[in-house]
Amino acid sequence: MVRFAGRVNRVNPSAVREIFKLMADPDIISFGGGSPAVESFEPAVIREITDELLTLRPDAMLQYGTTEGWIPVREAYIEHIARPKGLEFSLDDVVVTTGSTQGISLSIDAFVNEGDTVLVESPTFLATLMMFNKVGARVVPVETDEDGMRTDDLKAKLESTGARFIYTIPTFQNPTGRTLSLSRRREVARLAAAYDAVVAEDDPYCDLRYSGEPLPSIKNFDEVGNVILLNSFSKTISPGLRVGTVAASPEIIKKLVVAKQCSDTHTAILPQAICAEYLSRGLLPSHLTQVAPMYKERLDTMLACIEKELPEGTDYTRPEGGLFIWLTLPGEPDMNELLRVATQEYKVAFVPGAPFFVDPSEGRNAFRLNFSGETPERIEEGMRRLGKAFGDCVR
Ligand SMILES: Cc1ncc(COP(=O)(O)O)c(C=O)c1O
Repeated sequence: MVRFAGRVNRVNPSAVREIFKLMADPDIISFGGGSPAVESFEPAVIREITDELLTLRPDAMLQYGTTEGWIPVREAYIEHIARPKGLEFSLDDVVVTTGSTQGISLSIDAFVNEGDTVLVESPTFLATLMMFNKVGARVVPVETDEDGMRTDDLKAKLESTGARFIYTIPTFQNPTGRTLSLSRRREVARLAAAYDAVVAEDDPYCDLRYSGEPLPSIKNFDEVGNVILLNSFSKTISPGLRVGTVAASPEIIKKLVVAKQCSDTHTAILPQAICAEYLSRGLLPSHLTQVAPMYKERLDTMLACIEKELPEGTDYTRPEGGLFIWLTLPGEPDMNELLRVATQEYKVAFVPGAPFFVDPSEGRNAFRLNFSGETPERIEEGMRRLGKAFGDCVR
């Protein structure tokens, strides 16, 4: 019999990745994943850029590269993504990662030892919870409300636990869709500096805003160099390219680079170069302007269907962007039974809330819906099915 290390034995398979497998069935209407709309992809543009790169720079595209990342994509990130947000970085402040998933993992490698206490907003991104479990961290949830993580509770937990690592998704959070208010962003940076803690600011959804005004990053308020800003091209250009960025002080970046050398040497050059070209051709702003109304229509359709189809007393968030709505059912539903009935009998998928909590019993009547991946017509049909499935189970 093989004997596995504690690291992998401590981690359960991701509930979301399991539901992803269902999406291979075309009859299933999926509100389960966190995927951008296929209609947002631009295969013709990516093909043209790829052809040009392979024609003009074949050696560089097919050769090994540096761990820090393809210089043009770091430059393009600095100029086209960070600078318009009032963030000034140099090349030494940026490493390219294989999706921001890897940025989270490298940040944990660099700062979290087994047994260390870390703080997360509750609920939070379940892949990050899995990573913390893998290293054997003690994860302490911080309370949240409609303005995101409560900074009074953050302060109390920093004090009572001695935690020195805070993980947060400030904008259109996964799974709730909520956004950390401006004053709390400032306060998170202030508290982290005061308590000598590092903040991993995971912000892959910040450019997917459909209403309201953009907010500065926590990084904008970082005066001591302890905020690690994670961005990704997954939700804006393509998740399949697997390109993300981490921006932090050169001292931190150097350690992340060493951790990355132990992981995958470097992110694949061709996808990095595609993202660099995409940004330097100035394609991102117009793309975002184009996709925002499509996503807003899907979000509004789903919100209207929640009112119409789901049980009375269902509570839900009304996000201004991102990909997710977070819902809480009245009573004490059996979410796993609901998922079984929904997927097997009604062919509609969602993600139960429990895996997003440090203590899964807290999320027993919550669930997450993704509104970006299906057309408005399929959202209406899927929500009708979900209403029927819930009607069978929720009394
Ligand atoms: C909060 C959050 N962070 C990171 C990621 C990972 O994104 P990437 O595709 O860049 O690895 C996701 C994807 O769903 C996410 O929701």
